[in-house]
Amino acid sequence: MSDYDAIVLGAGAAGMMCAAVAGQRGRRVLLVDHAPRPGAKILISGGGRCNFTNRDTAPDRFLSANPHFAKSALGRYTPADFLELVERHGIAWHEKTLGQLFCDGSARQIVDLLVGECELGSVDWAMGQAVTVEHDGTRFRVASATRSDTAQRLVIATGGPSIPKIGASDFSYRLAKQFGLKLVEPRPALVPLTLGPDEALFRELAGVATEVRATAAGPGFREAALFTHRGLSGPAILQASSYWRSGETVRIDFLPDRMPDWLVAAKRAQPRASLRKLLPLPERLAEALAERLGIDRLADATDKALRAAGERLGAWTFRPSGTEGYAKAEVTVGGISTAELSSKTMESRRVPGLHAIGEAVDVTGWLGGYNFQWAWASGSATGHAI
Ligand code: FDA
Repeated sequence: MSDYDAIVLGAGAAGMMCAAVAGQRGRRVLLVDHAPRPGAKILISGGGRCNFTNRDTAPDRFLSANPHFAKSALGRYTPADFLELVERHGIAWHEKTLGQLFCDGSARQIVDLLVGECELGSVDWAMGQAVTVEHDGTRFRVASATRSDTAQRLVIATGGPSIPKIGASDFSYRLAKQFGLKLVEPRPALVPLTLGPDEALFRELAGVATEVRATAAGPGFREAALFTHRGLSGPAILQASSYWRSGETVRIDFLPDRMPDWLVAAKRAQPRASLRKLLPLPERLAEALAERLGIDRLADATDKALRAAGERLGAWTFRPSGTEGYAKAEVTVGGISTAELSSKTMESRRVPGLHAIGEAVDVTGWLGGYNFQWAWASGSATGHAI
């Protein structure tokens, strides 16, 4: 049994960053995880290349009941700070699109970087065992089948429940409840959406992808959308899914560069053209849309009908039947309420010495490296405070 300055629960992105920063400040830190090895989600991230940050990080790219909460931590640990760490470890990287930075090699390099930084901070590890947590008012006790450790500070960095098959769990929320912290209802995000039987026509398009602008309740996202056997996926849909709630619609602009009356002008120029041939979309999709719009030759349609068709193509509405759930969600929206935490230290207002960081907290980034940036920034903020 040992006494530490801090015990960090969860050896993922945020937990390792926090433990490394605190350890390098001379704190005695124990990092605990039920998984046998650290960083399972980092290893599968970014298609195995880890999209480790985004140059365009700004607070408005995060969802939270309190949109101001993330500003402080994000302002104090920036993408440039993490990039400096990446370069210090000699990791080659490249920028893809939309400010997204990836490893040239493998996501394993980011896990090695974090483990290396923890070693520099002489962090102790306790991996591969389920733990229970108790608090006697001044010290936290973390116990497993083989050990029992105490600390004045406990950091919840056990993430969200997305992708349970690699060790994700609702432990963060159970701990929050144990300590009386409020939760913002969690739901799967950055997740494919499913379509019901009334949208069967579109399910026949499985495999077709095209660039769209997709909008749920939040901003519009101009990226690729993909029709799947179950519904809709692709980056534009994943982004919109974070803002979508059960029963609501998702609007898709299939022609983000066209004005609604472009078909009227097209009729003047090419009256004999058919709509399905004219649509600058993959053939199967163009056919399905033209069929649904009930328009064949442009000359046979009135200007009013063509204007209406142009408008519909720019705002096609789907009412998803649901999402593919936590099994397929990259992240979880919601979590430990930011109202419970200091935005500077992530310390609980209710339980002094208790902190929560990373995905466990009700701060969720867009697709594209924003979620790791939040993990690094919130981990660093707490690492400097404990
Ligand atoms: P994280 O999930 O990393 O770590 C939590 C840790 O807690 C895990 O090690 C887990 O084993 C442990 N744990 C859970 N329950 C426990 C329990 N009961 N007891 C003990 N330990 C427990 N983001 C991004 O910015 N760029 C990207 O490229 C991607 N790509 C991506 C792909 C896929 C497939 C997924 C699922 C997710 C992404 N993400 C991403 C999201 C990103 O992985 C995620 O936001 C961060 O890993 C969150 O970091 P945390 O440290 O908060 O949790």
